[in-house]
Amino acid sequence: MKTEIILVDKNVNKEETYSQAVEILQNEGLVAFPTETVYGLGADATNPQAVEKIFEAKGRPADNPLIVHVDSKESALEWVQNVPDKALQCMDAFWPGALTLIMKSKPDAFAANVTAGLSTVGIRVPNHPVALNLLRRVKLPIAAPSANTSGKPSPTRAEHVYHDMEGIIPLILDGGATAIGIESTVLDMTCEPPVILRPGNITKEDLEQVIGTVRLSSDIQGNAPKSPGMKYMHYAPEAPVYLIENDQALVEKAIEHVQKDGKKVAVLSTVEFPLADYYFRLSAETLYDSLRKCDRTDVDLILATVSPAPKRNVAMMNRLEKAADHKWFS
Ligand code: TXA
Ligand code: MG
Repeated sequence: MKTEIILVDKNVNKEETYSQAVEILQNEGLVAFPTETVYGLGADATNPQAVEKIFEAKGRPADNPLIVHVDSKESALEWVQNVPDKALQCMDAFWPGALTLIMKSKPDAFAANVTAGLSTVGIRVPNHPVALNLLRRVKLPIAAPSANTSGKPSPTRAEHVYHDMEGIIPLILDGGATAIGIESTVLDMTCEPPVILRPGNITKEDLEQVIGTVRLSSDIQGNAPKSPGMKYMHYAPEAPVYLIENDQALVEKAIEHVQKDGKKVAVLSTVEFPLADYYFRLSAETLYDSLRKCDRTDVDLILATVSPAPKRNVAMMNRLEKAADHKWFS
């Protein structure tokens, strides 16, 4: 299969930009498109054959449910039931935006493989003109996980999608680099108080200003992860990633130690380390791009520096810890 890329650029509101994508999606095909978080790999969420293609293209385990994308709160409400007031308040406050709400789905609303057989579904309205234009035209709920091969860093640029999906999917809409760079916050609205299953750019504090107390699933002791996807190792580049305290002397010593064994080291940090063989900037927006850039080098080991105030960046730290599989350099 040939993979075509349509550069959206100045044609973001033109009909022709979307006609091919709409036709593919309405005929059981896959289309990758930008959102404000990461690129999604979309399929008709009501069609099990279409959805199956997502799992095949990504090599994704079938027990990991997909997020459904719709164009508005009104569209979302057509697909869910028993919606709590707090969910409605979140929709009003944060949609379109990087917040996925887990709610009870209507019976037989979606293909069973979208929700991995669960009675609940994760839905969001993405805040990106290309995604919104596409959703309004296709007139279907679109299941879309991140458009990477399972286990690889999520794509924040069309080139990342092309790297993973070339020859596997027919079309990528290229809307440039995504603004946020990490996946949406996932908030479970089926329990009280609501629980953050996956941290994202919309923080616990942001949510609490609108709906009061919210819990973090990582704070709930002895609980199996309720967001099935969180149990899988994610976002890992080829070379092993180690976390290290963001202390200049400590990092320099680590670099020298690795290089002494004849190995090449990359540093991911907010400040440059000229001693390292490679340096990539560390921020939520650039994390996945930097991890993918490491894959294009001959690096043997990656050091990611962790600053003393990680609370300010819960979501990025969550992804970085997964990329490192929680290993610290010692
Ligand atoms: O920012 C995003 O959310 C991106 C863009 C493309 O919208 N999408 C994304 O999808 O990250 P995906 O499939 O890679 O992540 C889905 C996450 C997983 O952690 C999954 O376990 C969780 O949402 N999830 C989906 N449906 C769920 C449900 N019914 N109950 C609990 N967790 C659910
Ligand atoms: Mg993903």
